[in-house]
Amino acid sequence: MTCSALLRSLVAAAILAAGLPVIAAAQAPAPASRDRILIAHRGASAYAPEHTRAAYELAIAQGADYVEQDLAVTKDGVLVCIHDVSLERTTNVEELFPDRFKTDTEGRRRWYVADFTLAEIKRLDAGSWFDPKFAGETLLTWDEAVDIVWGRAGMYPELKDAAFYRERGVDIVAVFAAALERRGLPWTTPAQGRAPLAVQSFDEQAVRDAARLLPRVPRTFLFGDRAGVQKWLSNAGTVKTLATFATDLGPNKRILEERPEIVAWAHEAGLTVTAWTVSSLAEKTAYPGLTEEMQHLLYDLGADALFTDNPNKFPRQRQP
Ligand code: G3P
Ligand code: CA
Repeated sequence: MTCSALLRSLVAAAILAAGLPVIAAAQAPAPASRDRILIAHRGASAYAPEHTRAAYELAIAQGADYVEQDLAVTKDGVLVCIHDVSLERTTNVEELFPDRFKTDTEGRRRWYVADFTLAEIKRLDAGSWFDPKFAGETLLTWDEAVDIVWGRAGMYPELKDAAFYRERGVDIVAVFAAALERRGLPWTTPAQGRAPLAVQSFDEQAVRDAARLLPRVPRTFLFGDRAGVQKWLSNAGTVKTLATFATDLGPNKRILEERPEIVAWAHEAGLTVTAWTVSSLAEKTAYPGLTEEMQHLLYDLGADALFTDNPNKFPRQRQP
């Protein structure tokens, strides 16, 4: 299947999702060529504190096709946008709630999102850690992210730490599916004609559950470690099996560099490929710049999409 056909199928999938209004999306044009897709990782997170309004707004201003939300669940069952399972790296939680930590198995003090109510979390400053000029930015709920992004760019939520939540009796996929239903999202399609929403997870069970609960929403199965590569990306047959419950394969960029053959296996299986993450905040690479690195992943290795902290560096076309 060609990429434009795949993108058309993603649009069709989105149309059918959750029984939401279908007419507007059905009329959306499919992209004429195999346009590569730019996903702003945690927003434009090289330039603004991740998962804040400032980061999402800047990502949209820099032309992101999708803006990513990493999702966690509060004590009172609300989805909030934060990468970590705990609050201490990106907020001033230690200052406001000094005694509310738990010690993890490695002896580290952790202020888990799951131990705080939304009202408590909303008191936190999620901007100052990045730069004092962002003081006062707050963590966003999923609904607030929808208010900011929906209709201006696609949304690409990651169902984070699904096993952690399962152990606590919380099904993050079900919480997410209920949030979509409750919201009754206007299922209109952005100008690019792509699915307005796709989900992603490292957790196989979560991707399978998303296939069951949200069968029409595109689903990225993420890979970052050797075990996942061995189980799912060792040959064309396992990749084909993966395509029975995922629609997109999401390898760390190093995996793609080491195993470029997985792109052809994925495309043969009807999957798209999304690499992560190109960033000025990451370790230096052999490429002269971020644009060159992205160009290699997209146009030499054949990835369909990638996550980047630097949306303004994304090469829309192959450059000489
Ligand atoms: O979701 C793609 C990429 O973001 C995975 O890594 O740790 O940044 O969520 P992480
Ligand atoms: Ca992520």
